[in-house]
Amino acid sequence: MKKISTLIIAATMAIGTTAAIAHDGSTGNADADKRIMKMKELGGAMKAVAAVAKGEAAYTPALNEQAAKIKMIAAEMGNLFPEGSGGEKTRSKDEIWSQPEAFEKAVADFDMAATGLVAAVETGDQGKIGAALGATGKTCGGCHKPFRAPKD
Ligand code: HEC
Repeated sequence: MKKISTLIIAATMAIGTTAAIAHDGSTGNADADKRIMKMKELGGAMKAVAAVAKGEAAYTPALNEQAAKIKMIAAEMGNLFPEGSGGEKTRSKDEIWSQPEAFEKAVADFDMAATGLVAAVETGDQGKIGAALGATGKTCGGCHKPFRAPKD
């Protein structure tokens, strides 16, 4: 249980810092805007799962939809970064396109974790949800660290 709560704390910290950052307006690139919107949706859905993992909210089947949303965005993640959608007004680093194999691995890791999250949430079991949330949060960070530029 101790390990799980550490994972939850790590995951919610990652969500907290990312979701707290308000993106001010359009980047001028429709692909980038769409991607940023999807990332924000991810943050929101992760927060809903975290509330249940931390015992702040009771599990209801509606949480399955939040997990499904995370999985859906994970499945389309590889298409959210078309070439030319980076640049200064975004926080997407050039490495996304110059290191495609590493980036694709980060996408695949996230997708796999999201699959586990869907299964865990369906059980309604707080401990299982917490463990899967921690594992998923790790893959958010696993991509943000190498591929997302700091907020300026
Ligand atoms: C495969 C890489 C990758 C994965 C996985 C990933 N992200 Fe991101 N995320 C990015 C990149 C790159 C950006 C910067 C996007 C930009 O500005 O073009 C970003 C931006 C964000 C933002 C900031 C949006 C804004 O307002 O500017 C949030 C919030 C976010 N991600 C949440 C998440 C969460 C939560 C997860 C996991 C559930 C996640 N991301 C998984 C790559 C990823």
